Amino acid sequence: MSVRALGVCYYPEHWPEELWAEDARRMAETGISFVRIGEFAWSRLEPKRGATEFDWLARAIDVLHGAGLKVVLGTPTATPPKWLVDEMPDMLPVGQDGRVRGFGSRRHYDFSHEGYRAECARITEALARRFGAHPGVVAWQTDNEYACHLTALSYSEAALSGFRDWLGRKYQSPDALNRAWGTVFWSMEYQSFEEIELPNVALTEPAPAHVLDFRRYSSQAIVTFNRLQADIIRRFSPGRDVIHNFMGRTLSFDHFDVGADLDVSSWDSYPLGFLDQWSPRSPEFKAEFARAGDPDLQALHHDLYRATSNGRWWIMEQQPGPVNWAPHNPAPRDGMVRLWTWEAFAHGAEVVSYFRWRQAPFAQEQMHAGLLRPDSEPAPGLLEAAAVAGEIAGQDLPMPGRADVAIVFDYPSAWAWTAQPQGREFDYFRLVYDLYKALRRLGLSVDFLDAKSADPSPYRLVLVPGLFAWPEALREALGRLDGLALVGPRSGSRTADFAIPAALPPELPAPLDALKVTRVETLPPNLDVPMEGGAGAFQVWREMLETGDASVRLRADDGEPALVGTGPLLYLGGWPDETLAFDLLKGLAEEVGLPVLDLPPGLRLRRAGGLSYVFNYGSRTLRLSEHGLAGNFRLGADELPPSGVAILEGEA
Ligand code: GAL
Repeated sequence: MSVRALGVCYYPEHWPEELWAEDARRMAETGISFVRIGEFAWSRLEPKRGATEFDWLARAIDVLHGAGLKVVLGTPTATPPKWLVDEMPDMLPVGQDGRVRGFGSRRHYDFSHEGYRAECARITEALARRFGAHPGVVAWQTDNEYACHLTALSYSEAALSGFRDWLGRKYQSPDALNRAWGTVFWSMEYQSFEEIELPNVALTEPAPAHVLDFRRYSSQAIVTFNRLQADIIRRFSPGRDVIHNFMGRTLSFDHFDVGADLDVSSWDSYPLGFLDQWSPRSPEFKAEFARAGDPDLQALHHDLYRATSNGRWWIMEQQPGPVNWAPHNPAPRDGMVRLWTWEAFAHGAEVVSYFRWRQAPFAQEQMHAGLLRPDSEPAPGLLEAAAVAGEIAGQDLPMPGRADVAIVFDYPSAWAWTAQPQGREFDYFRLVYDLYKALRRLGLSVDFLDAKSADPSPYRLVLVPGLFAWPEALREALGRLDGLALVGPRSGSRTADFAIPAALPPELPAPLDALKVTRVETLPPNLDVPMEGGAGAFQVWREMLETGDASVRLRADDGEPALVGTGPLLYLGGWPDETLAFDLLKGLAEEVGLPVLDLPPGLRLRRAGGLSYVFNYGSRTLRLSEHGLAGNFRLGADELPPSGVAILEGEA
């Protein structure tokens, strides 16, 4: 039977020891089985260099384990203590403005700093030696939320020296680097790697290839930082899962590369904060879903992170009530904590863990809800967690199999288009999200594929939006696809060195090898390019296509080709608005025989493992049978109230 369980984040160091046993008992009574602890506790674990105090943590683990809970132990490296920072102040990260980002909150370290890495290895090893074989410790979390508070990039001396070494290894000679970066432009040529600076010091825009290499270097620094801890944990705590908790909408390092060193990927899901802070939806939409969250944004992350560690994934932190960090922090509508938990299970989460057990009455996050109020009384989230615990008990919820549609995803593309957006609105994540949400409206399920290693061959429909440079294997595989591949806009428009390909983009294989993008333009808001026949428009980005003998499937109303190709390869020469994205993907899904629906904005479906999970994010009761969803109900019924969850037998 597949593992489906609940967890919670707990900070024994925040509470009197007399409370621990009672807390543990109540967690277990709620139906919680995993508890994450320790990830910020360095100053309590080692108040002075070498003076480790692990006994309190041992007692906490014993108490939790004694109550039947499984412990996920965090390494405390996101919060180096003051004495350590004072010992080596050059471990602090430096912002793009050149200013040191100092002590007094968290994440005040530089991924490139060798001295800090050695300290992380030391504390990780000490913890893993002491607790690695404890029967209560079932998993480890490395650090906490890499890149949170914009820490993926640091412009420090340590980063500069690491970057120069990395460039030396990559290019071998300054000449090769000069050619790759195009430094003849503006007399930027280098005679030695020691002359190279970080891209933040340039007077105006640095060479985009310089920026992209710095992004690649910085991402790799996070990968090796994480690997250092993962290797130590595996050595001293064999058989335990190594996990990291990723964040939403964070593209500043390659999560596939970090995920390759994890047993389980996890992410921290705060739907209401995300809607307010990031969702590109209209103010009306945001008002409608202010207490529910964007119905597609969590699902996108569930699917994306599932792909980063071979399918095993968790929610490490689930919003339980109002948070403290968004522009506005409303309370979830009754039932939403339960719905979010179920949506994660529908997408294959093994564990959903709430952040946090009890609201802290002190310090930065005192306004952040927990499952308990600061006075230890239940907060509304606790009752919903208990409800889910009751519902999952004894249920067999098979893991999702292969999804209907694949989207090829690529972190370097996000870096490339940040370095050279060409139009303010061109945002890689948003392009992916726009296509994803059209697929959700159609009721289709999605797998993400890492561009570097993607095998698109099992899928009937594959989308490749905004991929800046082709990995050769992917390019070839698309040409041999049995299904349909929708490529573009902007895909294959650069070489890996950030130059326009000699024969012009998109460099597709046969039968679309004659296709050329001859000109691009970015479109300010209100300068959309309508399609012939009036169904939707291009927005943000538009390309002029020389089509060779490829057939034109759709034209803009000025007569220019918008969608060209004959299966298996199709190329889309612009960023589709909501109507166009929906119509286009509906047509393609039908062409390859996928079952499509047209779900209203608040109603969402995930077919998985022979079940159909249905969610009502909206504020009105819906009848599922009116939306093409009928069958035997395992949970819920045809009438689905606001925040309601239903599970139908079979893939409806
Ligand atoms: C996460 C973080 C937690 C806590 C939480 C508040 O980003 O991992 O430690 O700060 O946000 O929502």
